Amino acid sequence: MRNAKRLGILTGGGDCPGLNAVLRAVVKAAGAEGGCEVVGIERGFEGLVRGESRPLGHEEVRGILARGGTLLGTSSDADPFRWREELGGETDLSRRAAENARALALDALVVVGGDETLAIARRLDETLGVAVIGIPKTIHGDIMGTDATVGFDTARGLCAEAADRLGTTAEAHDRVMVLEVMGRSSGFLALHAGLAGGADAILLPEIPWDPGTLAVSIARRRRRGRTHGLVVVAEGASPLGTSLPAQPPRVPGRGEVRRGGAGQVAAEAIAAALPLEVRLTTLGHLQRGGTPSAGDRMLAIRFGVAAARLGVAGARNRMVALRAGRIVDVPLSEASGRRRVDPAGELIQAARSLGTSFGDAAEAAP
Ligand code: F6P
Repeated sequence: MRNAKRLGILTGGGDCPGLNAVLRAVVKAAGAEGGCEVVGIERGFEGLVRGESRPLGHEEVRGILARGGTLLGTSSDADPFRWREELGGETDLSRRAAENARALALDALVVVGGDETLAIARRLDETLGVAVIGIPKTIHGDIMGTDATVGFDTARGLCAEAADRLGTTAEAHDRVMVLEVMGRSSGFLALHAGLAGGADAILLPEIPWDPGTLAVSIARRRRRGRTHGLVVVAEGASPLGTSLPAQPPRVPGRGEVRRGGAGQVAAEAIAAALPLEVRLTTLGHLQRGGTPSAGDRMLAIRFGVAAARLGVAGARNRMVALRAGRIVDVPLSEASGRRRVDPAGELIQAARSLGTSFGDAAEAAP
């Protein structure tokens, strides 16, 4: 008879800084709760379907607090309910995933993920009886039900530093710099980075922008004495009435068709409208790699400890969350869908008060 409890843990979806800090916190806190064991599932739901796991103990998590990536690996497109075969086609392997979880005799499976990963976790819990505790993570900061996600703070810091660095070279050469940051459907990262980096314009998926209005606002700033420019663009910020170029899955038959590349569109629009030198920088996966900030480490520790306690206490179908500065737990259903920037919200209004352009009609007046 097994007396000690056992938690499973996996990291799913795109990686972000702070995942290892979460793993460390869960393992340590579980151990402190009556010697609860932890089993790590390899590469997100892929490992659950394939039955690939390994014990995660204090030895394994030693020294990983500040390390980027995830000890367990992750997979962006492994969904047991829609398992993609090598040559295309989908099969439902969710029962196999649930059987593998049961074979590990888990009291709960801690799932660290973004909205899609957490939606799969909820389905496993509600339809197949796998007890799940969710931990929200994503550099986009866009998961419903929580004020913060692991990974956002680090990515925001990196984007703001990039904006600062671009600002000095832009000034030296009298150029307009366009900085594309991640964010296909929500613009929190771009909005925060643009504000913190003092951008002249911020282009977001939530506010369709007009190339002419953007050019006018940059020209207006130059007339007022600004010699250079900085535009922060979320990769999914579409110009009014058009859609961005479609990018096919990188491996045929796997992943979704994605629309992105708004930075290039914005840079070309500015260069076509104004006699200025424009340069584009796309930060890409730099935003997801590397050392987590102190803020993300703190959040990872708080979420990890809370999730371990919940799992040991027999909770299920819950997500740990930050609300008004406190760690709480909420039904996993609250994580469904993506939080989007509120175009009438306080941050947008603050930016408008500073004269920041969003390239939309609200500022079209001279
Ligand atoms: O997590 C979402 C995201 O970071 C997007 O903003 C970005 O376009 C995408 O993932 C990159 O995905 P991949 O790592 O699969 O290239």
